[in-house]
Amino acid sequence: MANLSIRNLDDAIRDELRLRAARNGRSVEDEVRVILREASQGGHMSAAGLPQEPAAETTAPAPNPREILRQHGGSQPKVTLIIGGGIAAYKSLDLIRRIKERGIHVRVVLTQAAQKFVTALAASALSNERAYTDLFDPQSEFDAGHIRLARECDLVVVAPATADLMAKMANGHADDLASAILLASNKPILIAPAMNPLMWSNAATKRNVAQLQRDGIRMIGPNAGEMAERNEAGTGRMAEPLEIAEAANALLRPQRPQPLKGKRVLITAGPTQEPIDPVRYIANRSSGKQGYAIADAARAAGADVILVSGPVELDEPVSVNVKHVESARDMLTAVEAALPVDIAIFAAAVADWRVVNEGAQKLKKKAGEAMAPLQLTENPDILATISKLETNRPPLVIGFAAETEHLIDNATAKIKRKGCDWIVANDVSPATGIMGGDSNTVNLLTRDKATGDIAVDSWAPMSKEDVAATLVARIASATAKDTA
Ligand SMILES: Cc1cc2nc3c(=O)[nH]c(=O)nc-3n(C[C@H](O)[C@H](O)[C@H](O)COP(=O)(O)O)c2cc1C
Repeated sequence: MANLSIRNLDDAIRDELRLRAARNGRSVEDEVRVILREASQGGHMSAAGLPQEPAAETTAPAPNPREILRQHGGSQPKVTLIIGGGIAAYKSLDLIRRIKERGIHVRVVLTQAAQKFVTALAASALSNERAYTDLFDPQSEFDAGHIRLARECDLVVVAPATADLMAKMANGHADDLASAILLASNKPILIAPAMNPLMWSNAATKRNVAQLQRDGIRMIGPNAGEMAERNEAGTGRMAEPLEIAEAANALLRPQRPQPLKGKRVLITAGPTQEPIDPVRYIANRSSGKQGYAIADAARAAGADVILVSGPVELDEPVSVNVKHVESARDMLTAVEAALPVDIAIFAAAVADWRVVNEGAQKLKKKAGEAMAPLQLTENPDILATISKLETNRPPLVIGFAAETEHLIDNATAKIKRKGCDWIVANDVSPATGIMGGDSNTVNLLTRDKATGDIAVDSWAPMSKEDVAATLVARIASATAKDTA
């Protein structure tokens, strides 16, 4: 069982496993053990191929992705994305990618005006299928293609929804492909308005918005901020592609279990940079991927997440409060400012040392002279500082140990020395490819609060997302026991 890997399972089964595990407060591995045990005892198999879960105590068991796939005829959920003719149309190309990242199939329709801003070619290349532009297209209309585009999907998204498109929708027009699809659709519709603030606050737009709300149209945004037009600001910016993709996902995939709802979780991620002079610094190879994946998993489990991040090249997780910092000292300040929290997870690779004789100006090379040696001093130890707090110590403090040798011995010593509750230990020697890579092999060390005994749980190699989901499931289980 220690060698069990869920890496090779298809995405839907992996999602189902994660959800089952989170729902039952077990690690993914423990969940697999239970499934195998039940199967060997002759348990019933679901149509998905996994044994059916015992009847849940709640009346309505949460739907899982496999169930959603079944509801959708065994295929991926489908979105018809209508791109309207606004300046924000360029962001809709990114939206195609964001929706697809969530395992959702996208078909794109562009209005005539949209094609002045982005091309059908770009939309079809990104969606991997033909993009539709014309109501009177003999190739797709020989069997009423606009009706298929309206119905052969699970959700219609309009982004950007121009003032004009919203007016047409509110009044039932159908004089082009986009408006005909919107009128013919019997699926939920999500619109992301984007327009100049004066267009948005115009009485006609307000009437149309009110009508669309009465008609059950879902809306995301518009946001406030700078507009594309020079010197224009106000409400009218299209919601960001990530926000729209998340909203679409939430409509397609009903509420997942939220075992960390009501919990405040602090996570640190990435490297720190310790300045040598205004242009140079000392850093390490941490990518921040593991900490970001944990932030995502904790947020998906319903937690209120604060992510204190060193400099990384990653997109900010959606609906997470991200504080960007550079040095270890900045990171400690941001961490202390985030307290109190219920759970603190220190996944950042904090530099142990910083330069004392930091140059106020760029250090210059002088011919024939050796560089003055860098004097290093120890940085504050964030994990130990927070673990040893007398007031505001988070009830669960989790550290990470990145070791290149004697992994378990060093991690065991670290848990005692730092005073934290759990340590996620991983071997970061170059041959493992963990530093900067997409997968991880971890050992979870947990210290029994009453006896001080340390238990070691070795997890199979898995993706950083799976490590995050498994860790969050363990946290959910531990915090549920503590509050029981
Ligand atoms: C440069 C430029 C930018 C525009 N941006 C917007 C916009 O952000 N929102 C909007 O509602 N209309 C905008 N318009 C006006 C629309 O393109 C116009 O109303 C068009 O008829 C909309 O067509 P559609 O709704 O069929 O896509 C813009 C027009 C131009 C020329």
